Amino acid sequence: MKIAPSILSANFANLIDDIKKVENAGADLLHIDVMDGHFVPNITIGPVVIESLKGYTELPFDVHLMIENPDFFIDDFVRAGADIITVHQEASIHLNRTIQKIKNHGIKSSVCLNPSTPVETLKWVLKEIDMVLIMSVNPGFGGQRFIYSMLDKIKELYKLREDLNLNFDIEVDGGINIDNVSKVAEAGADIIVAGSAIFGNKNPEEAINSMRKAVLK
Ligand code: DX5
Ligand code: ZN
Repeated sequence: MKIAPSILSANFANLIDDIKKVENAGADLLHIDVMDGHFVPNITIGPVVIESLKGYTELPFDVHLMIENPDFFIDDFVRAGADIITVHQEASIHLNRTIQKIKNHGIKSSVCLNPSTPVETLKWVLKEIDMVLIMSVNPGFGGQRFIYSMLDKIKELYKLREDLNLNFDIEVDGGINIDNVSKVAEAGADIIVAGSAIFGNKNPEEAINSMRKAVLK
């Protein structure tokens, strides 16, 4: 299982230091939450900040766009250094076109489902994408409680992937901590995102190590 710390819960006044901590602890990806104040009720960062981080870390940038009209901004986020771009199914009216736009840049494309959006909505794009992101909280904020019914949704997607013989990654985001990470992994997650459980810990390195151990048990 891969771990993608979400910088949403990092110290933005000391971002590089926090990123270095999780990189040294063996994080696999850096999860970057982009919020526009329209699609979700919060505003975070955009391409300018992301671009400024390049060169300070080797971690791939896993950019989660919680924005309306993602097509307008894909070029900007690619230029800023995104290695994976995730758009929300609910924010993409022409989802197939949006996915092609991401793929044309030669980076990984991914689609995210809000907790209330069914897996079936991705039926006609699953073959095209590299990853599906399942939200296990309603997007907008870090530190929310994990929605346990999402475990069945992860299992459903895992089974569908087997039935269709596809190999996209399954990433799960929201409310994941040391107590529930093993359930998320057992349900079929390949990548887990964790913000508050890692950066809210005095020792982010230890938080990552404990999560890995919990999954191995
Ligand atoms: C929520 C974001 C998450 C968030 C996760 O909208 O997409 O990536 O940072 O934070 P935790 O792990 O604290 O739920
Ligand atoms: Zn996220």
